[in-house]
Amino acid sequence: MEIRDSVAIVTGASRGIGRATAETLAREGGKVVVNARTETDALRQLAKSLGTGKGLVAAGDVGDLNACRKIVEAATARFGRVDILVNNAGIFGLVKMEKMRPEDWESMFRVHVFGAFNLIHLVLPGMLERKRGVIVNVSSIAAARPPGPGRVHYGAAKAALVGMTRALGQEIASQGVRVVGIAPGLTDTEMVRKGIPNLAKRAETIPMGRIGTPEDIAHAVRFAIENEFLTAETLFVTGGE
Ligand SMILES: NC(=O)c1ccc[n+]([C@@H]2O[C@H](COP(=O)([O-])OP(=O)(O)OC[C@H]3O[C@@H](n4cnc5c(N)ncnc54)[C@H](OP(=O)(O)O)[C@@H]3O)[C@@H](O)[C@H]2O)c1
Repeated sequence: MEIRDSVAIVTGASRGIGRATAETLAREGGKVVVNARTETDALRQLAKSLGTGKGLVAAGDVGDLNACRKIVEAATARFGRVDILVNNAGIFGLVKMEKMRPEDWESMFRVHVFGAFNLIHLVLPGMLERKRGVIVNVSSIAAARPPGPGRVHYGAAKAALVGMTRALGQEIASQGVRVVGIAPGLTDTEMVRKGIPNLAKRAETIPMGRIGTPEDIAHAVRFAIENEFLTAETLFVTGGE
């Protein structure tokens, strides 16, 4: 799909991969609704930096269906429709399974899996009606490759996104709407700087010898949107891991 003049919602856009994705889509001529849990100066500044009339802030917890309804209503009120949905919002945490509380498990699924479901549920009918849309689910290398200890909830939630991408992509493949997963490897964002112990040592294990940049992943999201023969697949962007 051509990004120029398309309307995108990017969740989790206040920093990291979401921010780089919003900037990439705006640079390609898209109109971008930027989301994070709360409306902060960072989010307002980002929307402004995307260019006059190109950015809109729509804060809200993606795990909350009512908040998602407001995000989609704001997008539609300003730009008329939603053509691109990037389900990027995410959280991370290390908890060994024997210490895992039901609320740790639930919060991981609430943001990643219910968050994606909530927004897909709200934007898909319009996309199908117009026969035009791309949904990008940001999964993780942890969905399919050894994620390391303490990440059972994270790996399981990200694997659910791979399954959702596969099943939904095939279900609607003939209806003009594509569903693509992007599974980043280790990427230089606040999530890993705060969440991964011994980051420098861990980075040495990446075959390309470096961790990814948010722009590396945003570039893959752009490819997923633009390539018209790509659906139901998750692309691993990992520096060779
Ligand atoms: N960095 C990596 O190495 C890596 C690797 C594989 C996959 N990923 C995935 O890539 C995505 C982006 O991660 P990142 O590394 O860019 O992380 P990040 O820098 O921590 O950014 C996460 C974003 O998600 C937002 N967010 C969190 N919970 C939310 C909620 N309930 N509702 C709305 N927004 C929410 C955060 O904003 P607020 O906190 O302000 O709400 C922030 O904007 C995540 O899905 C992550 O799992 C990252």
